Amino acid sequence: MIKVNCSPEIDERRTAHILKEIAKDKMGGWLGLPRKIDMGEFVRIKEAAKKINEESEYLVCIGIGGSYLGHRAIIEALRPKSETKIIYAGNSLSRRELDYALKRVGDHDFSINVISKSGTTLEPAIAFSAFKKKLIEKYGEEEANSRIYATTDKKEGALHDEAVAVGYTRFVVPDNIGGRYSVLTAVGLLPLLVAGVDVDKLLEGAAEAVETAVEPATKYAWMRYTLGQRGYDTEVFASFEPATLYFNEWLKQLFGESEGKGGQGIFPASVIYSTDLHSLGQFMQDGRRNLFETIVDYPTDEINARVVQAVRIAHTDGGIPVLDITVPTYDEKGFGELIYFFELACALSAKLFGVNPFDQPGVEAYKNELRKLMAKE
Ligand code: PA5
Repeated sequence: MIKVNCSPEIDERRTAHILKEIAKDKMGGWLGLPRKIDMGEFVRIKEAAKKINEESEYLVCIGIGGSYLGHRAIIEALRPKSETKIIYAGNSLSRRELDYALKRVGDHDFSINVISKSGTTLEPAIAFSAFKKKLIEKYGEEEANSRIYATTDKKEGALHDEAVAVGYTRFVVPDNIGGRYSVLTAVGLLPLLVAGVDVDKLLEGAAEAVETAVEPATKYAWMRYTLGQRGYDTEVFASFEPATLYFNEWLKQLFGESEGKGGQGIFPASVIYSTDLHSLGQFMQDGRRNLFETIVDYPTDEINARVVQAVRIAHTDGGIPVLDITVPTYDEKGFGELIYFFELACALSAKLFGVNPFDQPGVEAYKNELRKLMAKE
């Protein structure tokens, strides 16, 4: 069970009210998800993963933001062993990165999982078109189409329309679950299975957390809110496991996109220790005191555990509030719990700040401006 080490003042009635609001929200589908997995869809996802493993050395995962960070975070943290390697593309507009990804796939056998809820995001659209061309050149149109897996909206969007017209294998991003809360849907499950992650255990961890995470997530959300009210406007997520770098990225997206609106929210940053003790450690110890530190404390070896202790003491002495989130196990089950815990804490916290955790008007604004510019050119 996840534990947190703080005891903020909690308004229980307000918490209960917020939890009810989230449950009723049209984007609150992730709340009960781990206990309501669509088994029919899950079996189809498992079959697709098996086919990909049988016929491909690489799976190119194309997507950005919530459409890739969650599964990448788990795959990089757990380093599962599968003969099919995952290559990520479509998470920037850098031509250099795209060329590099194309080159890495080279002449190897590959399949594509293109993931976009809206089906209209430019970054994945451009990468998809480049990889699709390569796939068709290698296998011809018919086989290429059988190697494309599209995870997108049930009924609309350019990707949906193309997938229906051409007959790609399709998986659905549920209407009531937004990108950054979608890792336990087909968005994450297909790449995770292909990579060799024990998804049953991951879902088991998340399902347990539906009950066990409520108390620690409530405490953590109220602590963040209290610190925010006291002028601590930056939260630094600290991990002592280098393989969790992408988990930190997922956290920053989850909190930044859910909470940063209407002039509200806490700016999420991250560090990996002890590496960053030799760079950002100076600022953490002695810089401007507007930040607090949240240690995501994974079970670790003895020397590393000493570093955790030392950091906790030194940074507390340095005058920054240090929160601790203790993760019970460094495995699929532990990450399942952790994902659910953070999703819940984030939604609660955003609501305490009085903002909608499930929209992203700032991201849409960028997407629209880019679309307008591209259309002009
Ligand atoms: O969390 C979100 O909603 C965003 O980060 C999206 O996941 C991201 O912008 C990609 O959108 P889409 O899946 O529609 O391509």
